[in-house]
Amino acid sequence: MRVFVTRRLPGDGLERLAREADVDLWPDELPPPNKEMARRTAEADGLICLLTDRVDAALIDASPRLRVISTVAVGYDNIDVAAAARRGIPVGNTPGVLTETTADLAFALILAAARRIVEAERFVREGRWRTWDPNLLLGYDVHGATLGIVGFGKIGQAVARRARGFDMRILCVSRSDIVTPNTQRVTLGELLRASDFVSLHVPLTAETHHMIGEHELRSMKRTAILVNTARGGVVDQAALARALEEGWIAGAGLDVAEVEPVPPDDALLRAPNVTLLPHIGSASHATRARMAAMAVDNCLAGLRGDPLPHPVAVRP
Ligand code: DGY
Repeated sequence: MRVFVTRRLPGDGLERLAREADVDLWPDELPPPNKEMARRTAEADGLICLLTDRVDAALIDASPRLRVISTVAVGYDNIDVAAAARRGIPVGNTPGVLTETTADLAFALILAAARRIVEAERFVREGRWRTWDPNLLLGYDVHGATLGIVGFGKIGQAVARRARGFDMRILCVSRSDIVTPNTQRVTLGELLRASDFVSLHVPLTAETHHMIGEHELRSMKRTAILVNTARGGVVDQAALARALEEGWIAGAGLDVAEVEPVPPDDALLRAPNVTLLPHIGSASHATRARMAAMAVDNCLAGLRGDPLPHPVAVRP
């Protein structure tokens, strides 16, 4: 059996895979171009892919041997799950394992954006630090502030746990009735109007695409900070760039973008008060190795015809 793996993975998962299947490993740092993706997937029984690889209906339909699709991510908006289901191909992902690591990064962005950490570091390196100045690099307090969490799944709840340690008031928008200490469930409009920090933790779907657009940004406090560690498409990025430029909100901390990497001419790169990271929410050694191991487990189960240990949750 042959498995196309679209990038070298951390940990020893690929060695385990190689004991049971022929591994066709894409050797480059950059994703395989569409033509290579199609050619190699067409010859594969299993596909281990990343969030950068588009696995659409055309690719799936042109891959007659394909028996399993396994992504090294919890989000799977890059995969046409319905097309895979039509072909009876199970799709697996890596839920749970990256929850705490991603919540750490969301909180790092909250702190970095509020306290202007990146800007301050640049200030020192550029030799501009001349004295202690009572007006220098003033930011916003995180402790005691109101945090609005949009999407109260595993990662949203993990961010809330961190926020409790900072004595924050926590609001959330949630599809479920989950009750956690000191957390008030509200509508998106209420959350946006009341929060000092808004942190996004929803998957990208047709329903959540651009759920934060001009109207929503204008309804936030002028002192508010938006943090996105979910998917870039949840935010209308052009509207966000204007919001930062024109001061509708105070700042943003973004680990994700609508187009990744952010194109050099994107207005966001020129916008003030934005901390930008290259989609590293789950990027710790331990977590990435665990994600790779889970993806290999999913793939091996699919090749054997067994139920995947971590199948994607198919939404109604
Ligand atoms: C995911 O898993 O969906 C993250 O965005 C990358 O770790």
